[in-house]
Amino acid sequence: MRGKRIAVGVTGGIAAFKAATLVSRLSQLGADVRVIMTESATRFVTPLTFQILSRNHVAVDTFDEKDPSVVSHIDLADHADLIVIAPATANILAKMAHGLGDDMLSTTLLATRAPILVAPAMNVHMYENPVVQENLQILRDRGVFVIDPGEGMLACGYQGQGRMAEPEEIIARIEKILDASLPDWKGKRVVVTAGPTREPLDPVRYFTNRSSGKMGYAIAEAAARTGAEVVLISGPTSLTTPPGVRRVDVVRAEEMLQEVLKALPRADIIIKAAAVADYRPATVLDRKMKKRAEEVEIRMERTPDIAWEIGKRKGDRFLVGFAAETDDLEENAREKLRRKGMDLIVANDVTAEGAGFEVDTNIATVYDRNGPVAKWPKMSKEKMAERLIALIGERLNDR
Ligand code: PMT
Repeated sequence: MRGKRIAVGVTGGIAAFKAATLVSRLSQLGADVRVIMTESATRFVTPLTFQILSRNHVAVDTFDEKDPSVVSHIDLADHADLIVIAPATANILAKMAHGLGDDMLSTTLLATRAPILVAPAMNVHMYENPVVQENLQILRDRGVFVIDPGEGMLACGYQGQGRMAEPEEIIARIEKILDASLPDWKGKRVVVTAGPTREPLDPVRYFTNRSSGKMGYAIAEAAARTGAEVVLISGPTSLTTPPGVRRVDVVRAEEMLQEVLKALPRADIIIKAAAVADYRPATVLDRKMKKRAEEVEIRMERTPDIAWEIGKRKGDRFLVGFAAETDDLEENAREKLRRKGMDLIVANDVTAEGAGFEVDTNIATVYDRNGPVAKWPKMSKEKMAERLIALIGERLNDR
């Protein structure tokens, strides 16, 4: 759930109190949660509750435009990876089924292209009313996901179906929906490289670069969610190993090469997001270099080009590289793709705001031998990793 952008629509029913637990759990799991409430929902729970639990502004009034640079309901619609409505009243289901947009939530729902999940909650007779059931069927036919209400004692005193699904069930369903865009790679083996390399000069100094490993770790995490066996060969970072991933730590480019070559025979897909140092000091001193002269010259030599080495040996394995560029993005990226025998290259302009090293987001264009195949605007590295895994999945299916 980490890095996922979830919009939670809360409508006016007593189950709105359970939405507080849902928002709290989603936030704890690392999702970026934006809550949109209807006016009637605010009669049950205050916007402040959701603001504190989500650490984000809560949208209620369509005309309360807080940020002049965006139109709120469009921004909320575009921002979301998924919208969940919990609880969903008969009223919001009817509005959705018939295209009404008369408040913040309904206009956001009309504007979004994200998957929508509804968790209906209402009195059993309302729920069983044929018009509510017809509206639910219209929504299902349109691809809206519905998590059926449970049976039991309802707040209105009736016994029957109408209780909103429990927050944990809703979260499990959200995870399933978000994973659906990923291919099924059970039985496949994926090797991902991430982070920088460090090239020592002496026991206390080294040359390195600004890579944090975030992009590569996000790729390893998304790859693991496909069911694949994932080996993450990582330079020094402060990140934690994603679940289900086997991590091999390295420091120097030479060590990264050796680990990649070890993993290669069993690999089906290799993704090289690491920022490997191109040069290393030609001599590594075994004692600390003393400060004597005003100026020093350090002779550097080339490190092995790992991607090129794999490109030579790859056979029918799928090789994806990254290109970190400051100039002539397309020309340089396509030249690297050809020279290193890659199937795809993800080019990021590391001078663009919100792209490249250290930040949580990236902006990239993906090329194959024939030219650009995808252009990805600014998005979280987690989202970009999923897009990349989905794209590789499509390419493998086409083979
Ligand atoms: O780690 P983050 O802070 O999240 O930042 C992400 C990133 C900017 C590091 C990542 O998105 C990225 O662009 N990684 C590749 C950086 C890089 O080394 O680019 P390059 O253009 O120098 O190299 C091209 C390709 O060859 C890369 O796949 C690289 O892994 C590979 N290479 C480069 C040199 C070398 N000696 N051996 C290699 O295998």
